[in-house]
Amino acid sequence: MVAYLPSDGPDPVADCDVAVPRTGSGTALEAGPDVPDAAEIARIDPLDPLVIRRDFPIFERDFGGRTVAYLDSAATSLKPRVVVDAVNDYNTRHTANVHRGIYALGEEATALYEGARERVARFIGARDRHEIVFVRNATEAINLVAATWGRRNIGAGDTIVLTELEHHSNLVPWQMLIQEKDADLEFVPIDDEGRLVQESYDALLRTHPKLVAFTHVSNGIGTINPVREMVDRAHRAGALVLVDGAQAVPHMPVSVAELDCDFYAFSGHKALGPTGSGALWARRELLEAMPPYMGGGEMIREVHLRSTTYNDVPWKFEAGTPDIAAAIGLGAAVEYLVGLGMDRVRGHERLLTAYALDALAHGVPGVTLHGPRAGDDRAGVVSFNLPGVHPHDVATLLDREAVAIRAGHHCTQPLHERLGEAATARASFGVYSTTDDIDRLVAGLRKVQALFS
Ligand SMILES: Cc1ncc(COP(=O)(O)O)c(C=O)c1O
Repeated sequence: MVAYLPSDGPDPVADCDVAVPRTGSGTALEAGPDVPDAAEIARIDPLDPLVIRRDFPIFERDFGGRTVAYLDSAATSLKPRVVVDAVNDYNTRHTANVHRGIYALGEEATALYEGARERVARFIGARDRHEIVFVRNATEAINLVAATWGRRNIGAGDTIVLTELEHHSNLVPWQMLIQEKDADLEFVPIDDEGRLVQESYDALLRTHPKLVAFTHVSNGIGTINPVREMVDRAHRAGALVLVDGAQAVPHMPVSVAELDCDFYAFSGHKALGPTGSGALWARRELLEAMPPYMGGGEMIREVHLRSTTYNDVPWKFEAGTPDIAAAIGLGAAVEYLVGLGMDRVRGHERLLTAYALDALAHGVPGVTLHGPRAGDDRAGVVSFNLPGVHPHDVATLLDREAVAIRAGHHCTQPLHERLGEAATARASFGVYSTTDDIDRLVAGLRKVQALFS
């Protein structure tokens, strides 16, 4: 058992798990010629993060003579100035409610809000902007589907297939639903490198589930799932497919049309947008057939004392005044990402991931790395454990070096049970991340090890 560091304030880890003996299945990367070094990355990197950083005001802050090495983009991304400006612009120059005011400000606000919907639709390859429902985050998007489509379509004895990789947001809403409906959950296991076992998936599909719901990219160990193939097989088995895109949309090109799924959920705040922004995409015919989520203003066509008819989609699902500023900010965020080019974003993060896995494997003795090796199916999320040091101690000590990482189960407790770890430390990247951030992480980890040796 490892002692936690003393702290003057409330214990930040009081409600977290303690270290357990490590039986994990993590892998260390072998040195190979395909792993680029920092100079090579600077030469071939399709994005220049140092130029990008000029767009992010947070890098103007001083953390003890340094900028922050922000390695927690999987939790939330930093925000570029264009997003902050778009939110401010609405609040200072275009303030009014949407879909209501028959006056200039009201029309401007509505145009900005609906313009953001159009941008988000284009960004994720939706054919129709009416298929974009603005929500607060991916969690709300998934709950919306569970509470509306799920309540109407899942019955006693039906099966929903999930995976061991899921974030609690794509697990708990389904647990709640099947308890209410007396239905069943089944789980696709992962192999020792953190990939879904596709034979098990096929076996589960043979039981004819009604719904399959899985993450596009694992926020726990960075696995990128083969979404299109999994969707095709689920459809052949007669199931609908919900994809949790919270960790994909910010980091790689996503086209819901190409993925051919039925529901796709993501959070705006992880994609350079403001907190309180996010979207559910669903096929229009599904949205039209689904009952509303919440009742109130905006979502109605006509209300009488004892009956109501509902608005068209997507407004049927947007009861009450929405977070207008956040949606407009999300529109600005996706335009910014489009400007960078999502292929280039993925290219940048792919190089950084290879660099990080190599630097950790060779620069930090004894480290256990979780998830697939660098490559096509590995995203910029790197979870690891240091022998004999609790991840919370790792994160606390790194904070003294202005290196910000996450420690805990990352809302993936079942995945951590599978890894045999109560907690991991996690570094995750964004468009502004650099090899220098990773070098600072490795140097910080060496200091942690020296302290605990
Ligand atoms: C894969 C995945 N799904 C869902 C979520 C939930 O996101 P939010 O808290 O923004 O709803 C997260 C957040 O980390 C995530 O990584």
